[in-house]
This record gives sequence, C-alpha cells and structure tokens, in this order.
Amino acid sequence: HGRAFNDPFVQKEKEKLSYDLVPMKNGGVGVKVPSFFTDAERRSLLDAAQIVGLNCLRLMNDMTAVALNYGIYKQDLPAPEEKPRIVVFVDMGHSAFQVSACAFNKSKLKVLGTAFDPFLGGRNFDGKLVDYFCAEIKSKYKLDPKAKVRALLRLYQECEKLKKLMSSNSTDIPLNIECFMNDTDVSGKMNRSQFEELCADLLQRIEMPLLSLMEQTQLKVEDVTAVEIVGGATRIPAVKERIAKFFGKDVSTTLNADEAIARGCALQCAILSPAFKVREFSVTDATPFPISLLWNTEAEDTEGVHEVFSRNHAAPFSKVLTFYRKGPFELEAFYSDPNGVPYPESKIGRYIIQNVAAQKDGEKSKVKVKVRVNTHGIFSVSTASMVEPVKSEESEDVNVETEVESQDQRPIENSSDKNIQQENSEAGTQSQVQTDGQQTSQPPPSSEPPSEENKIPDVKKTNEKKGDQPPEAKKPKIKVKNVDLPIEANLVWELGKELLNMYIETEGKMIMQDKLEKERNDAKNAVEEYVYEFRDKLSGPYEKFVCEKGFSALLTETEGWLYEEGEDEAKQVYVDKLEDLKKLGTPIETRYQEAEERPKLLEELGHRLQYYATIAGEFRNKDEKYIHIDEMEMMKVEKCVSEVVEWMNNAVSAQAKKSLDQDPAVHSSEIKAKLQELNNVCEPVVTQPKPKVDSPKEENPLNERSDFKPEDMGEDEKNSEMPQQNGECHPSDQNTISMDLD
Ligand SMILES: *[C@@H]1O[C@H](CO)[C@@H](O)[C@H](O)[C@H]1NC(C)=O
Ligand SMILES: *[C@@H]1O[C@H](CO)[C@@H](O)[C@H](O)[C@H]1NC(C)=O
Ligand SMILES: *[C@@H]1O[C@H](CO)[C@@H](O)[C@H](O)[C@H]1NC(C)=O
Ligand SMILES: *[C@@H]1O[C@H](CO)[C@@H](O)[C@H](O)[C@H]1NC(C)=O
Ligand SMILES: *[C@@H]1O[C@H](CO)[C@@H](O)[C@H](O)[C@H]1NC(C)=O
Repeated sequence: HGRAFNDPFVQKEKEKLSYDLVPMKNGGVGVKVPSFFTDAERRSLLDAAQIVGLNCLRLMNDMTAVALNYGIYKQDLPAPEEKPRIVVFVDMGHSAFQVSACAFNKSKLKVLGTAFDPFLGGRNFDGKLVDYFCAEIKSKYKLDPKAKVRALLRLYQECEKLKKLMSSNSTDIPLNIECFMNDTDVSGKMNRSQFEELCADLLQRIEMPLLSLMEQTQLKVEDVTAVEIVGGATRIPAVKERIAKFFGKDVSTTLNADEAIARGCALQCAILSPAFKVREFSVTDATPFPISLLWNTEAEDTEGVHEVFSRNHAAPFSKVLTFYRKGPFELEAFYSDPNGVPYPESKIGRYIIQNVAAQKDGEKSKVKVKVRVNTHGIFSVSTASMVEPVKSEESEDVNVETEVESQDQRPIENSSDKNIQQENSEAGTQSQVQTDGQQTSQPPPSSEPPSEENKIPDVKKTNEKKGDQPPEAKKPKIKVKNVDLPIEANLVWELGKELLNMYIETEGKMIMQDKLEKERNDAKNAVEEYVYEFRDKLSGPYEKFVCEKGFSALLTETEGWLYEEGEDEAKQVYVDKLEDLKKLGTPIETRYQEAEERPKLLEELGHRLQYYATIAGEFRNKDEKYIHIDEMEMMKVEKCVSEVVEWMNNAVSAQAKKSLDQDPAVHSSEIKAKLQELNNVCEPVVTQPKPKVDSPKEENPLNERSDFKPEDMGEDEKNSEMPQQNGECHPSDQNTISMDLD
C-alpha cells in the first residue's frame, strides 16, 4: 500500500511472496487473485470488509453480477411456464477469462454453470507485444528493456496503447518511445494480422472454457439465445471473432464492458437494502466447485465419503444429513475435484460434532447435521442436533412440537435465502430422500417412525444400523425432542476471532489517528490562511485602520515559524498561535467593518428621523391623514425623535474626532439599536388605522402603507427596504393616491 510497483522495497518483497504482484496502470502495486474465489478466500474477504467497517450483505460471483445487471432491465423475459431464455456471459478482463451460462425467467435468473481460465486476460496480449518489441529492440538497438524495470513498464504502457489502436485499425500502427534507454529513441510497428499471429496460442485457449461450460450444462449452441461479452479484452476483434465462431452467432455488447460487474453488485445491494425500491429479481447462483464430506465410521478403519454439493448445485442451499453415533464424531469438508480449483489446498475444514452420547438403552443416537452453502458462497456445517425420545409424562406434546418448529425456523437467517425457506417448507410435508440421496427432510417429529431413517445412504454406506422394513403406520408414536449440539470448526484458512478483533481495533485506531491528523492539519492551515489573507489586506483595505505596531512583522515571523520549528506541532499549538494573531488582528478587522457600515446606518437613521418628523409636522398642520391620532401619542413620537436626533448629533461629532486607526466612538450595533428603538416607539403610533369611514379606499391594494409592518421584517431586510418604503409611502404620495381615488 502506498508504494509504486517499481519501488525497490516492493521489488525485494515481491520475491518473498507466494502470490503475484503486478504493476497497475498508475504505477502502483496490484495483487493477482484467482477469478473464482474458494472458501478460504471468500471468508478472508468478508473478514477484510469487517475490519474496515463495511457491512457486506452478499459476496457475489462476478459473472452472476453481470447476469443480474443484464436480466433486471429485460422486460421481455419468458413467463415462468415457458422455456427459460439461455444467455451466455463471457468476460475477459485484464488478468482472467471467465464464462457463465444463465437461465432467465420473468424476474428470475439461475446460474447453470461457470468455467474459466484464470491466466488468460488482456495483459497476456500486452505481454506478447512486449516480448516481440523487446526482441526487436535488442537486435536493432542493442538494448535490453527487461534489464531495467522503468523501461519495461514504459514499454508495457505503449504496447497496451498499441493493442487498443489495433482493435480499431487494421493498418500498420507505429510504436515510438523517446529517450527509452540510454537516451535512445526507439521505434517499431505492428498491424492487426501480425498481432493475431503472435497471439495464436492465447486465442486458441478461448475455446476451452466455452467447451467446458457447454459440457457441464449439457447445452447445445442452438439453445443459447444470446452471447453477451464484457471486459476490456473482449474489444480485441480476434477474441470477439473466436467467441462468435464458437456459438455460430454474433456476440452482443449491450452491457457496459468495464462496469457490468460493479453495476450488477450495486443492483444486488439495492435489492438487499430496505432503503431502495427495486424490481423483484431472484438470483440463484451455482456452486463452482463440488464439495464433499468425509467421516470416520464407528467401525474402525472405515471412512464414509459423499459429495454434498455437486458442481453447479444451486446456492445458497442447506441440506440435512443424518448420522447414527454413540459419541462425538468428525466431518472433513474438501473440494472433490482439486485439479479444477485454482487454489493449492483442497481441504475446506474439519468439524467436530460434540456432546453426542448413546441413548439410554445403549443404542446409537440419531444426529442431524445441517450443511450449507450460504449467500456468500461459503460452505459450513451450520447446525447439529441429536434426536432424543421423550417419555410422555415428562413432556407435553405441544412443547415438543414447538421446540422442533422453532428449530426448523432458525436456519432462515435471511429473507433473501429463499432456497432455505423452500427447503424448510418442503421439510414439513415430505419425508423421502431427495434426488441426490443426501438431502433428507424432517418428517413431523411426533409421528416419526424410526425406520424412516434407514433410507439415508450414509447409513447404508457405512454399514451401520440397517433396517429396511417399511414405515409402519400403526406403530405407537414416540415423542422426540432435538438437542442442539456444539460444533467445533477448524477451517483451513482462518483469521480467528482474536486476530480479527485485533485488526478491527487497529483499524479503528488508525481511523482515529487520521481524524486527529486531519484536525491538526486543519488547525495548521487555518494559521497559514490567516497569515496570508491578513497580510494581503494589510497592504490593501485594512491599511488605514492599523495602529498596532509590528503586526505585519508578526505575520511574517509566523509564516517563517510555520515552515521551520512550527512545521510539525500539536493541534493546540496552532490553535493558540491563531488566537494570538487574532488578538491583534480582530480589532483591525472590526475597525474596518465598522467604518464600512457606520455611514450607511447613520444615513438610514437620518432618513427615519426625517420621516417621523415630517409626519409629526403634518399632524400639527392638521393634515386629514393623521387627524385620528391621539395628541399624547404624537407627543411621544416627537419626544423620541428629538432625543434620537440629539444622540445622533453627539455620536457624529464624537466620531468626527476619531481617526480610522482608532476604535470607533459609536459602534454600528448601537446605531442599529437606536434605529430599532425609534421604530418601536413611533411606528405603532403613525400606522394606526383611520376609523372606518373611507374603508374601501384604505383597503385598496395600491395603498401599500397599510401592509407595511417593519416588525415583520428581518434586520437585514429592514435596513435595505426601509429607505425605499419610506419614499414610496411618503405621506404626500399617499395623499395623492387617496385623493385620486376620491
Ligand atoms: C422457469 O420456469 C420454469 C417453469 O416454472 C422452471 O422449471 C424453470 O426452472 C424456471 N427457470 C428459472 C431460470 O427459474
Ligand atoms: C502487416 O504486417 C505484415 C508484416 O510486417 C505485412 O506482411 C502485412 O502486409 C501487413 N498487413 C497490413 C494490412 O498492413
Ligand atoms: C489507422 O492508423 C494509421 C496509422 O496510424 C492512420 O494513418 C490511419 O488514419 C488510421 N485509420 C483509421 C481508420 O483510424
Ligand atoms: C547503457 O547505459 C548503461 C549505463 O549508463 C551502460 O552500462 C550500458 O552499457 C549502456 N548500454 C548500451 C547498449 O549502450
Ligand atoms: C437479513 O437481511 C436483512 C435485510 O434484508 C437484515 O435486516 C437482517 O439483519 C439480516 N438477517 C441476518 C440474520 O443476517
């Protein structure tokens, strides 16, 4: 993380790693993974998600995501009773090639099979070009690009570009790299047919996974309705041609080649999230690698083995197996076909079913074990229980039923696990062994005839208790109860709870550290910003307002400090530094702002005083408009106006004695307060409505005066609106209006 691929440290480390490191487009390091995750890899991915605090709702196979992305938008899928539409998805990306066949019904998709070549991708085609040009450069320029990683990487980049150009252009395309090695410019050329010849062996490999897919699914090419291709490397014409030739039809490119998988995963996430409303679409995936279970029988030296999940078995899915044992026993899960799994270890895990004991009469106990492939495609032995007969005096019928019932419900961990729900619902009604002979279901417990159990192949195979007598309907009912058994799981690759918790904690600490580091940087940046901004203004708008000697010098000094001893300080140091600067800076800022606002506010106050004085004058002149106002009330207005006039005259003359670099004699907040006081006293008096004589005219919409209520306005609005209103509503104007109407 955080190192370039060509970083000597990475190069040295690379030799010690069991997995491949590959250069990424941006020069960083990429880790090569197999395209179809095995159990261990899936669990590890979930651990990783948990460590970084991501809630992984479903780990989805990439090709299944592509299929979902394809199907969910299709409005014309066959109805459930019709033949499903078969679509093959082909994905060749940077490092791997994978294919899947899916059956689509309305709102439903089922993965029928998958196949892949984990070592065939776009980079292999780049590699062919690189090898070709390395040889050419060697003979033409006597330079060896492989001797120098930087040069080799540049060659890789140029070859990738060349490959892309050849996809759209069949003529000769030049390759030119300036100052490639030892100050030498190199050049070459290639055309598409030459390239295809060069890559003949790679192109040959395309057919293999396709053949495997058709063989597994027993599909004929005629059954395939469409072949959808995604992945960058499917843009290579020869790749496209090979796929089209195999299926005898044109390939479709309706999906976004680079984002099809990501989009499918996003859609699945939206389906699972309660926050989104998405069209119903059910996805049934397939198990890519068959899984078997191995166990020891109680007779020494014999082993039982059975494939519990065959290749392409629907997933998620649960199955119940029944064993007859007198004591604890062990199950081992492994991939039945290790050669088909791109992973060195074929074992999945060992599971010990604990607390198993013989029945009271010494007979073997019946033990039911549930195995499942969950929604993430991960195998587990999920639950185990021992079936114990119960004497009827000890336990009531109802209790037993309820217990069993609730146990049946328990495995339904998630509503999206539809198969499990299905299986459980089947369990109540059917009691025969299913197609593959392993999937047994649970008959209603209270009427369960013991002989029924003998149909389970496990028992036959291991030559244990054998009893082929058919179920006797008349047999007395034996009440049973299921006792949960603990399972000890030893998985092949497991982080373990302790380590996982430690990683989560470490991650949390790192997140906290990042947060603190960000706060520290923010605090530092705030100081820096203050210094620059203030210094700019000191030689600009603030110039005349500064009396503080040496403030400019302090700013310069602080700037120096930031780059030297103050470069790496704790957050509080920067916070304190900023406070110190503000102690000097804020008064300057205030003086400037006061000087900006003061004249405007004084002007407004003057206007307002003039306005009320005019009304008072008109009242004294017995103007008809104000005749209804009480004399005492109007005297309050006159008194207030004269007091405020005096206050304002004093303020203006006191301020006149101050220079700009002195703190103001009157603050804008005081002027605002005076303005408010004046309005509060005078406005209610002068806006008193006239007695209802000419009411229709008073209510005329043109008479805006009656609508004007300064109390309703915000401070800012008042400041900007009032002078205007003042003009509009000037008594004489209003006179004119009402006179016109009269
Ligand atoms: C489509 O519907 C048919 C009939 O119900 C069913 O047999 C088949 O499995 C369905 N296919 C899918 C993909 O669900
Ligand atoms: C492609 O290159 C080969 C080898 O240089 C040459 O023989 C052939 O004519 C070229 N084809 C085109 C279409 O340019
Ligand atoms: C194909 O590439 C050649 C060489 O770069 C260029 O001259 C020509 O215009 C290109 N043709 C097309 C159709 O892009
Ligand atoms: C390229 O340069 C390196 C070091 O500068 C030198 O050792 C090497 O011989 C040069 N190669 C050629 C082919 O000139
Ligand atoms: C199942 O999924 C739902 C969201 O659809 C979630 O709320 C619930 O917690 C999940 N249950 C389990 C057991 O994971």
